Amino acid sequence: MTITNEDELDGLKEIGRIVASTMHAMARAMEPGMTTRELDGIGRTLLERDGAVPAPEACYAFPGATCISVNEEIAHGIPGDRVIARGDLVNIDVSASRNGYFADTGATFRAGPVKSGLDRLCRDGKRAMAIGIDQVGSGRPLAGIGNAIGRFASERGYTLIRNLASHGVGRSLHEYPEEIATWPTRSDRRRIDKGLVLTVEPFLSKGARWATDGEDGWTLYAEPRAPVVQYEHTVVATERGAIVVTMPA
Ligand code: CO
Ligand code: CO
Repeated sequence: MTITNEDELDGLKEIGRIVASTMHAMARAMEPGMTTRELDGIGRTLLERDGAVPAPEACYAFPGATCISVNEEIAHGIPGDRVIARGDLVNIDVSASRNGYFADTGATFRAGPVKSGLDRLCRDGKRAMAIGIDQVGSGRPLAGIGNAIGRFASERGYTLIRNLASHGVGRSLHEYPEEIATWPTRSDRRRIDKGLVLTVEPFLSKGARWATDGEDGWTLYAEPRAPVVQYEHTVVATERGAIVVTMPA
């Protein structure tokens, strides 16, 4: 959607706060020995408490309230019997709606201490997202987001997943302007509309370049197999840059 007034911005900020608070509460509750189903249950309870409807379930009949992806799973992991172990990288992606507004946020968390290379990957994944968000502003090129993230990734010897894009959001989970590259592109000539609501969600990796389908029809895996992290905010483009709406209360 494109935001045209304060009421719309307030509606979007409200669901932004809810999904962000839910994701961070899930991360605080996460501990080794817990199943991803238990973790998802915590998220569902918090979303329901705040009057929010889980978007993956409502929009796509995804079998869970949130997407929880562990290690080799990079996105759209189905909450289930998998037990979280010490040293795992756990991606929690929370998207939901309230009063007709949708927001989407995600982050990769560490279950206890992880190898130092993975600590660095997490730090740099957050930086990659922040660099992308810095490129958001009305009238600026949409491709500027992925080109800036691409420069950062290649300078540090990382790869980016090239078939999992950022997207428009706000009145539904995925909408105009549809796919937004978080990797370098030359052909995209589109500009960012004033008030455009979009996600910025690069998938930074130590070698993987593609997401491939698993057998359950949902879970996506890294190809070639390598650690991947994802950090995602929902933002609004203004003349003075981006407003990040997925901030916890
Ligand atoms: Co998401
Ligand atoms: Co998203």
